[in-house]
Amino acid sequence: MHIKNICCIGAGYVGGPTMAVIALKCPEINITVVDNNPEKINSWNGQLDTLPVYEPGLAEIIKEVRGKNLFFSNDIAGNIEKSEMIFMAVNTPTKTEGEGAGMAADLKYVEACAKDIAKYSKSDKIVIEKSTLPVRTAEKIKEILEKNSNGIQFEILSNPEFLAEGTAIQDLFKSDRVLIGGDNTKSGQRAVKALSKIYNRWIPESKILTTNVWSSELSKLASNAMLAQRISSINSLSALCEKTGADINEISTAIGMDHRIGPHFLRASVAFGGSCFQKDILNLAYLCKFYGLDEVAEYWHQVVKINDYQKNRFVQRIIDFFNGGVKSKNITIVGWSFKKGTKDTRESPSIHVASSLLASGAEIIVIDSLVDEERIKLDVNEWLINYGLSKEEVNKILTKIKLSRSFDNSNSDLISIVHDLDSLEIEKLKSNNIPIIRI
Ligand code: NAI
Repeated sequence: MHIKNICCIGAGYVGGPTMAVIALKCPEINITVVDNNPEKINSWNGQLDTLPVYEPGLAEIIKEVRGKNLFFSNDIAGNIEKSEMIFMAVNTPTKTEGEGAGMAADLKYVEACAKDIAKYSKSDKIVIEKSTLPVRTAEKIKEILEKNSNGIQFEILSNPEFLAEGTAIQDLFKSDRVLIGGDNTKSGQRAVKALSKIYNRWIPESKILTTNVWSSELSKLASNAMLAQRISSINSLSALCEKTGADINEISTAIGMDHRIGPHFLRASVAFGGSCFQKDILNLAYLCKFYGLDEVAEYWHQVVKINDYQKNRFVQRIIDFFNGGVKSKNITIVGWSFKKGTKDTRESPSIHVASSLLASGAEIIVIDSLVDEERIKLDVNEWLINYGLSKEEVNKILTKIKLSRSFDNSNSDLISIVHDLDSLEIEKLKSNNIPIIRI
């Protein structure tokens, strides 16, 4: 199949950067990223310094390809119709109601995409799962597509995204691997080949791994679970270090030098955040439960529980520092996004830390170079409402948050560091002569 037009549904953290890189590497293919959120599309079409996603190197690529072979549009129907290949890169959050609430992935956005694809397609399509999905989702998508297909052939591929926010462009340029899962039929393999050919423009063949659809779907969940497990493991040891006088950074270096363990992802922190790890592990645990594997489910669930424990532990250390009461204390929190180098705040540990302290009467100064004050207040608002406070109480508390872009900070009683800072940044904070707490 010759691919001339690609449509990507979902203009978020994955859809935007991945399509920008494909557009850059395949100038002969026209790519349109569509979304049902018109503001997001406007913003992708607007100023380069206020794109919806901040990633180093992204604005430069957008500048080069936007309007040439990369487009952002609200016209979902028209772009589905004209494209031979359709990526689904919509969000798959944890379900909040119904069966599996609190654990299973909510597939309503993916299902809505599949319905749109079935509705607006007038010719055969390759449909690609780019979102992270539970194993065997392709079965469900196929069912939706075939029910409404009018004789059109849909080939479903799984092509999970492994980029990490903050290094997305670099990750896309130099992927450790590209994973493509397809059916072992003639048309399935033809579709796999068509997608491999696109990636092969910049990724060597040896790094393009083809598998069956279920292996590909499950590999992504498994990969995030293994990465998060390393963080929870080292974080659980940071608690023991604090009790015994051992130094967690020295421990990380010492154990990371064992090549069977390795140094990556072994830095202790206040917790992992981001939109993916927690929801994907919960989803994996739910799948295990669904298949009757309760012990396996509990094993993975523990990775999330340790993460919550670590956040609470950090808050408790701050409260202990003030001998049990933080009322009217002015506490600085360094880092609001879920990690340095992104403005994504989803599941950021700082939200939990700051909101818990604010609920106990503290005042907060946030130091973050990318996130804006409105986002911080929205995050705290959501946390406090879920915590059970009234709108009036929350509004009062929101006046106690201030944002600073600078590390110069002399008005605080305590600086708590959540982001992974380099030694220069830590020296700068130390020069404020204010006590510092960090993991
Ligand atoms: P996101 O929330 O940033 O973007 C999703 C976009 O899809 C939103 O703009 C939303 O308006 C749009 N959307 C939802 N339903 C739609 C529909 N029916 N029609 C049109 N547009 C629709 O999500 P993000 O972070 O890009 O994640 C997407 C998927 O990729 C998720 O499954 C996630 O787990 C996975 N993933 C995310 C990574 C990350 O670092 N954020 C990394 C790798 C995978």
